[in-house]
Amino acid sequence: MASPISADDLTLSEKASLASGADAWRTKPIARLGVRSVMMTDGPHGLRKQVPGAEQSGLGESVPATCFPPAVGLGASFDVDLVERVGAAIGLEAALEDVAVVLGPGINIKRSPLCGRNFEYFSEDPLLSGALGAAMVKGIQSAGVGASLKHFAANNQETDRMRISADIAPRPLREIYLRGFEHVVRQARPWTVMCSYNRINGVYSSQNRWLLTDVLRREWGFDGLVVSDWGAVDDRVSALHAGLDLEMPGGDGRTDQQIAAAVESGDLDVRILDATVERALELVRRAGERPAPSTALDVDAHHRLAREAASRSVVLLKNDDETLPLTSAARLAVIGAFATQPRYQGAGSSLINPTRLDNALDEIRALSEAPVTYAAGFSLDPASDATALRDEAVQAASAADTAIVFLGLPAEAESEGFDREHIELPVEQLGLLEAVLAANPRTVVVLSHGGVVALPFADRVPAILDGSLLGQAGAGGTADVLFGEVNPSGRLTETVPLRLEDTASFGNFPGEQGHVTYGEGVLVGYRWYDAKNLDVAFPFGHGLSYTTFSYGDTQAVMRDDDVLIRVPVTNTGQRAGREVVQVYVSAPESRLTRAPRELKAFRSVMIEPGETVEVELTVSREDLAHWDVESDCWRVEGGSRVFGIGASSRDIRGTAVVQVAPDSSTAPLTRSSSLEEVLADPLAAELIRQTVFSMSTQMPGVAAVLDDDVMMRLMASFPVGRLPGYGGLPITSEMVDGLLAAANQARAAGAGETR
Ligand code: BGC
Repeated sequence: MASPISADDLTLSEKASLASGADAWRTKPIARLGVRSVMMTDGPHGLRKQVPGAEQSGLGESVPATCFPPAVGLGASFDVDLVERVGAAIGLEAALEDVAVVLGPGINIKRSPLCGRNFEYFSEDPLLSGALGAAMVKGIQSAGVGASLKHFAANNQETDRMRISADIAPRPLREIYLRGFEHVVRQARPWTVMCSYNRINGVYSSQNRWLLTDVLRREWGFDGLVVSDWGAVDDRVSALHAGLDLEMPGGDGRTDQQIAAAVESGDLDVRILDATVERALELVRRAGERPAPSTALDVDAHHRLAREAASRSVVLLKNDDETLPLTSAARLAVIGAFATQPRYQGAGSSLINPTRLDNALDEIRALSEAPVTYAAGFSLDPASDATALRDEAVQAASAADTAIVFLGLPAEAESEGFDREHIELPVEQLGLLEAVLAANPRTVVVLSHGGVVALPFADRVPAILDGSLLGQAGAGGTADVLFGEVNPSGRLTETVPLRLEDTASFGNFPGEQGHVTYGEGVLVGYRWYDAKNLDVAFPFGHGLSYTTFSYGDTQAVMRDDDVLIRVPVTNTGQRAGREVVQVYVSAPESRLTRAPRELKAFRSVMIEPGETVEVELTVSREDLAHWDVESDCWRVEGGSRVFGIGASSRDIRGTAVVQVAPDSSTAPLTRSSSLEEVLADPLAAELIRQTVFSMSTQMPGVAAVLDDDVMMRLMASFPVGRLPGYGGLPITSEMVDGLLAAANQARAAGAGETR
């Protein structure tokens, strides 16, 4: 067999040619060597393969594909298996279209509800985003198609997205904004990672060697190809040097020439270009290994999967007096333009041309045996007669047993490319709802939106279904939940705040003069509301069911280095249903700024009426670590961890406590180490004790200081190198150095033993 093509077989200009695309979606071929061109397309919740002829224009027409729920919807399932199945279906559709890489999933953190692209992302929580992102990558790649994990990193807003510098301290950067990416890269090994447009702490992601090489490749072991977001490259040679392999979209070859010239002039080491070439060849090879799919696209089967996924993504926010599920005999008034013109996906590069599109009115009629009337109530066309529409809706509501009002954000309110300025629903919709409620208090609200919206009516409406964006079969999935064909099990992946002013990034979003300061640090999303003790409309992780669950005694035990949690959960109601069991961890003795609770594990389990399921969840030791700024690595603090098991971040049903051993520190103690840091080392503490006791003859009473809590707290931050001579203490520099040397020697020996 001929040996595979390698960088050595290519001329310099051929090498440089592989560092940028051929056009909007394809890599360049090298015909002489039989290197094919491969295609990448958006993503992430379906395939957006542009029809021939529309390639260069960006957002042209695309071939029909199944539009699954966008991440904002699908994430609410809290179900990695479901997400993986959807990923596999998207992968199959890509394979059928001979697409090598799907440009997704996007797993950026929803830092502010205003971000125009939140609909494309999973959550405000890094563990959830990482777990769901990994599932999506595994699913797509199971079809022999690559995924592109994006947008790496800290692309948390659309305002000035191509230039803004996200200024983030190391802990939040690692613990919140990079954590999910790290998880996906390590667990799911995506073929490609897409770098973001923005800068991080002043450096463009596309030119950030620390990000693309030190962290992504060296630390996390990423061995795939880094592609630029479309138009993210500012300086091609410095981007290549930083670790950016493929510039997209392709241009006029100008940057290829810059690369070749830099190699010729010696400004760029050819080995860097060779590494990029190897990665580009590897991508083409991987794509070429995919066997031709043995089936054609089963449009019906994928639509059914889209409907199942949609029904699993609906969150029942509220259900007083069992207003839901509806009985098929109830006379219904369906109100709201979204019932016939569904809002089911977001705008921008992820826009899918769906294979078909359900609407709620038809789907409700299909499941109802009683008359169903319809009134638009409001129009998406501002020129319409709002009063007449409202009156018609009020009449329909008064004549019905139950009114179902479809409210939401109009498509133009949110999109890739810009952020929202507020989180309110349109005022005419709120007015309509008040009028309907006055006519018929038995009113159910169904919401469609990409970003979170304020719900000022939440106290007065008996039932609210949050449908966020549910894809092409969203209307069918919603009808299934309304009528109880599917028992709702979706959970909020993002807190619904009472006011925009309560949100963590308020005042620090979207920044100014080219910079946005992530001033809230690690306290993002629910971490913020909990730390500040703020009321919210609906908390992270919340979602009701048509049945009820009770939790038995929680047990937490160590298994190797991880913590194994077991809790029996019983379905105490009449219907089968899914419970999403969530584990939140607190570290009460921590010396760091920490959220009161952090999600560390979750599981969606189906439970039959009367059945008890023993739910097992594992929290890995790595997930108990924080980013230690001084030693620039992950580190576990010793002490107790309280594992709160519950049905939401604010509905903890039981706790179990485990003592966690600290990571041993090998960082040497120095003269700058504080007294407290030195005393934290058992050997050093003993040496200090002996030294101080030996001084008692010269300075009576000095030994008592060690047992004087107030004195010790007062002196805790004192650098030991400044003790000699201080306040007449009979301590010499030699004594301090000797003590530090002895302690460091013992530490190094201890670290050697545990290695
Ligand atoms: C978006 C990416 C997308 C790319 C290609 C960019 O503007 O940020 O998410 O994959 O365009 O359409």
